[in-house]
Amino acid sequence: MAIAEFINQIIPGDCLEVMSRFETGAIDMVLTSPPYDNLRDYQGYVFQFEAIAKELYRVLKEGGVVVWVVGDATIEGSETGTSFKQALFFKEVGFNLHDTMIFKKRNPIPQIYRRRYNNEFEYMFVFSKGPVATHNPLMVDCLHAGLELNGTTYKNYSKNDQKRAKLAKPVKNQKIKGNIWEYVVGKNLEDQEAKGHPAPFPCELARDHISSWSNAGELILDPMCGSGTTCKVAQQLGRQFIGIDISQDYCEMARNRLGVGNKLQPSLPLETANHSCQRSLL
Ligand SMILES: C[S@@+](CC[C@H](N)C(=O)[O-])C[C@H]1O[C@@H](n2cnc3c(N)ncnc32)[C@H](O)[C@@H]1O
Repeated sequence: MAIAEFINQIIPGDCLEVMSRFETGAIDMVLTSPPYDNLRDYQGYVFQFEAIAKELYRVLKEGGVVVWVVGDATIEGSETGTSFKQALFFKEVGFNLHDTMIFKKRNPIPQIYRRRYNNEFEYMFVFSKGPVATHNPLMVDCLHAGLELNGTTYKNYSKNDQKRAKLAKPVKNQKIKGNIWEYVVGKNLEDQEAKGHPAPFPCELARDHISSWSNAGELILDPMCGSGTTCKVAQQLGRQFIGIDISQDYCEMARNRLGVGNKLQPSLPLETANHSCQRSLL
């Protein structure tokens, strides 16, 4: 089946199976959040991380990015480190680890004191297939905009001439935002539609990534789309989308959010599962 058949659809099924039907290099950008550690093996279904990472590399265009939002469970007193292992495997597959970004939660889950600091972030690994083709950076205001900060920056104009000239350029109004992004989880009005899913990420997070790493008209894939946050925001931003989820119920939820029908019913071996995820505790 050609990629055109899947565009602007929410497809129930195992993402590995569904992606195997896509042409190589058909996808401009992927934004997704996989099931976390506790779901590696559930109801007989094993999350085939390594095969999925390889398939993502195949279906992505040269210059495209995969944003992989993930956190670690703490099991028997130790963080699993699965997120790091996954990041290193993406590199083995051929991706560049373009940026290790942090999703900082303004309203983290209060934790029972276990001789450690409260966990309040997840990773947002940005992997690229070769050099990144699109970066529309988010900008923030400079604290000292317009000020001439004297006496801090000097430059040698030539090796022989040791005279130094002071560069007192006024500070710019704006600069590129840093790579720690803060969001409120589950409280914003636009996120209420996703309430039936245990672990949606905020629409604002999806908006910031999709606008940063893609352009209007491009095709965004979320292979584990849950409540459809990535697809909803892609639609709002004038991108095309494909959402896949193994749960029929979540696909239904995503379709309702997006106002898209149930046109495509591929005959895939569907498995519904216990889809509890770490972010569900928020
Ligand atoms: C962390 S949740 C994603 C939440 C989503 N970002 C949102 O905003 O609603 C992970 C999702 O992966 C789905 N999933 C797990 N294994 C899958 C697979 N092999 N193929 C497709 N979806 C899968 C689960 O059903 C779950 O909805």
